[in-house]
Amino acid sequence: MLKEIHETPRVIEDTLATHLRDSALGTMNLDLDVPRPAEVLMVACGTSFHAALVGKYVIEELAGVPVRVNLASEFNYAATPLSRGTLVVGITQSGETADTLSALRKARAAGCATLAITNVLGSIVTRLADRVIYMRAGPEICVAATKTFTAQLITLYLLALHFSDMELAEKQKMFKELRRLPMAVQRVLDVEDKIKRISERIASYENVFFIGRGISFPVALEGALKLKEISYIHAEGYAAGELKHGPFALLTEKTPVVAIVARDRTYDTMLGNIKEVKARNAPVVAVADEDDDEIEKYVDFVIRTPHVEAIFSAVTNSVALQLLAYYAARKRGCEIDKPRNLAKSVTVE
Ligand code: G6P
Repeated sequence: MLKEIHETPRVIEDTLATHLRDSALGTMNLDLDVPRPAEVLMVACGTSFHAALVGKYVIEELAGVPVRVNLASEFNYAATPLSRGTLVVGITQSGETADTLSALRKARAAGCATLAITNVLGSIVTRLADRVIYMRAGPEICVAATKTFTAQLITLYLLALHFSDMELAEKQKMFKELRRLPMAVQRVLDVEDKIKRISERIASYENVFFIGRGISFPVALEGALKLKEISYIHAEGYAAGELKHGPFALLTEKTPVVAIVARDRTYDTMLGNIKEVKARNAPVVAVADEDDDEIEKYVDFVIRTPHVEAIFSAVTNSVALQLLAYYAARKRGCEIDKPRNLAKSVTVE
């Protein structure tokens, strides 16, 4: 897992090199003759579902196209209305997840255009969907997805820019930011020792909450999933605003809360939420922008991630959370690469 996390900067470079033809012209190599759709519906499972939730935020923000995200396993049994103008996007690292394949079959049967985002050449999904975008993450062996999650995010940023009718200058700025991400992730990896020290404290707890708002909400969900998968600590991801609708009852000095704090329009409300958590005596670890000089006053520990445009903070912050999970699991002596009861790809519904 650690090796695969460390491959992330190269994975981002490769994914961008494959799909970005010319950043000055704002052109891409995405082999997509699909016009800007009236609506996007994404189906996925596990970590890929969390990437889809980030994708919803990104596509709505950058392209203004409405996006619905469904768990593939639920979509298959729901009476979700589908219209022909809907582009159904299946996100699956392995290309073999049974629920995601069934969801795409259902979408095709309803006459929708389908697109698969996958990492595996020739996988079943590539034969099923009308269009395919390959991520360039290389083989991922560890059961818990890390570098492929990041590659999914990069692909979704590109897809959003493909659909977007923003001005060229604005698009060029976005491409420039994307190109800075390998270096930004490398800087997260460079502070690994600090993350390790904080993780070793987290390792002694049995329950952890992860909270975020906006784009940081799915990042929180993914951070919690990573921690529970490999360290067996009970972890829940929550939208920060939902904490007071129930989970507050569980907050004590024994339930640390990891708060993912982006420097965007959610910032002030997020600080308010952190104060509420602290007032319940729960220890707070913030994952925050290096330029954020406020946050320290309100939390117990800060994991600093390099400054990037807030919309791209999902990349840097989720890599920090992958390291947090990894070192907590290592401290607890877990078998990280093959967690108990889990499989790399789930081929039954
Ligand atoms: C399994 C893996 C997860 C993965 C999920 C979806 O549960 O353990 O890491 O996120 O399947 O896999 P997919 O290949 O469809 O992305």
